[in-house]
Formats: sequence, C-alpha cells, structure tokens
Amino acid sequence: MGGGLMDYPHPMPDPVVTKALIPAAGWGTRFLPATKAVPKEMLPVVDRPVIQYVVEEAVAAGITDIGIIISSGKEAIPRHFSRDPALERWLEEGGKNEALASVRRLHSLANIHYIPQHDMLGLGHAVLQGRSFIGAAPFAVLLGDTILHGAAGASVTGQLVEAFAAHQAPVVACEPVARERVSRYGVLDATPLGDGLHQVTGLVEKPRPEEAPSNLVIASRYLFTPDIFPALERTGRGHGGEIQLTDAMAALAAKRRFLGCEIKGRRLDVGHPRGLLEACQVLMGDEK
Ligand code: UTP
Repeated sequence: MGGGLMDYPHPMPDPVVTKALIPAAGWGTRFLPATKAVPKEMLPVVDRPVIQYVVEEAVAAGITDIGIIISSGKEAIPRHFSRDPALERWLEEGGKNEALASVRRLHSLANIHYIPQHDMLGLGHAVLQGRSFIGAAPFAVLLGDTILHGAAGASVTGQLVEAFAAHQAPVVACEPVARERVSRYGVLDATPLGDGLHQVTGLVEKPRPEEAPSNLVIASRYLFTPDIFPALERTGRGHGGEIQLTDAMAALAAKRRFLGCEIKGRRLDVGHPRGLLEACQVLMGDEK
C-alpha cells in the first residue's frame, strides 16, 4: 500500500495518559446524503475507516482505554471494532492470512467503550458525556472525523502527551492557517513560549477574521485534566446554539496554565467531501 499509510511501529514507553474520548456522535450534515446511513467516521480512506486511524493514533500515544461517544445510527462503529468469529473462520479456512490479521487486530487495539450522546448539543456536550468513564485522570480528546498525519509517522496525540508530561498543564493541538480561514475553527489567543509551544490565555469559536485574536487554530486534538468537566457544566450554549468545548477551554485558560502545541504533521479533516478526497491522496502517497 502507498508509502503514506500510517503504521506506528514504536508505541510510547511508560504512558502517562491512558484514557481518551473520541466524539463521533454528530450528524455529519456536511456529508449528506452519504452520511444518512453510514457514519462519517466510518467512511473509508484507502483501506480503513476514518475512525480506525484516530484509534490507532491514540494507541500509538500509549492510550489503552478509549471511550467513543456515539448516537443512534452509529452502530457500524462498534461493529467495526468487535469480533466477528464467522468472518475470521472463513478467512482462516481460505488461507487469507493478511486479511485475517487485519481483522483480528481491530479487537485487540484497545479497550473500547461506547458512550451514548442522546441529544447532539455540540462537541462540549459530547465530551461531558465521558465524565464518569474518565474519572480523575488526565485524558486525550481526538475528534472522530479528522485524521492527523504525523510527520515521520509520529502520533500527534503522542506529541500532546509529551507536552503534558513535561509541563503538567492541559494542552491543545494547534496550527497556523491563512487569516481568511480562521472563521471555520476555534482560534487561540496565545503567546509563543518557543519550540512550538504557546501559553494560551483565551480562545474564540469561529470568529470573523478581523475579530480573531490570532491565526493559530485548534487542530482537533486535546489533552485535558478533569477540571474541564466542571467548566463544561458551567458552559451555556454558544456559537451555533451548541455547547462549545472552546468556551469551556477559554474559561479554564483564564484561570490556570493552559498550553497550545503546534502539530508536527498534517491535519486531514474528513468531515466534508473535498477533505476526504485529499486524505485519500495524501495517505496513498500520491500528494506530498
Ligand atoms: P463536527 O461539528 O465536525 O461534526 O464535530 P458534525 O456536527 O457531525 O458535522 P456537520 O457540521 O453536521 O457536518 C466534530 C466531531 O465531534 C463529533 C462529530 O461526530 C465529529 O466527529 N460531535 C459533534 C459529537 O460527537 N457530538 C456533537 O454534538 C457534535
């Protein structure tokens, strides 16, 4: 398969963060009608669904326990990661060893739990559903519709885990974009600390370019301490009438140390058709 496909040969030693949440309950309206019966997180990129790349990135960062936030209609996600003895037997009997290994690997990747979000009130609300699964530990959040193609095969979540281990503060992945594109993202108000790290003092969800505090935008991965949960509980509806994770982060960043970490790699947002096409090209090694 193309040289761009991500395999993570060296999981991180002695992981300091072992839990993650992957929100995957959203409607996927930008991808209708494809996402009416098939979750956008299950759309294939080359040889595997988007969410498998996301789980593999978490596992490569040392994460062993993953809570995937799902809603009704997303049943294909648990089915993908669960055992299928009949399929395995059929592949075994047919001597299809490579396919068999790829299928068996899925249910040994991590301990995967499924957490329902009954009303899709936004990303902040989705993360809040994972509170009892996470408990009192630091944890990662990886958006289920975005692949991060780490430079030199590294896991971007691993980059956040390393920053957390070194600084003992929550970390949000970020990247600079052209000013006119900031209105699609959460934007950081931040001061550079060197080595791609930033001290975050504020965040704004989807600002107009002329009102944005910077051109540094959130890149779909987060490393939180459990104090994000009470902050989320206090967060009212924000941009688009949704409970915004960005607003809860802004409340935390105003009163405690909060870091931004520029990603070493490329963000592939697969939540819309052009992004999916680009992701296929990049991961096939057809586009640099
Ligand atoms: P998006 O905002 O990109 O997802 O959220 P969406 O709402 O499905 O997209 P559109 O705008 O309708 O096309 C990023 C991630 O957060 C999840 C989504 O499933 C996606 O993986 N999400 C979003 C939730 O789990 N719950 C929500 O209430 C909203």
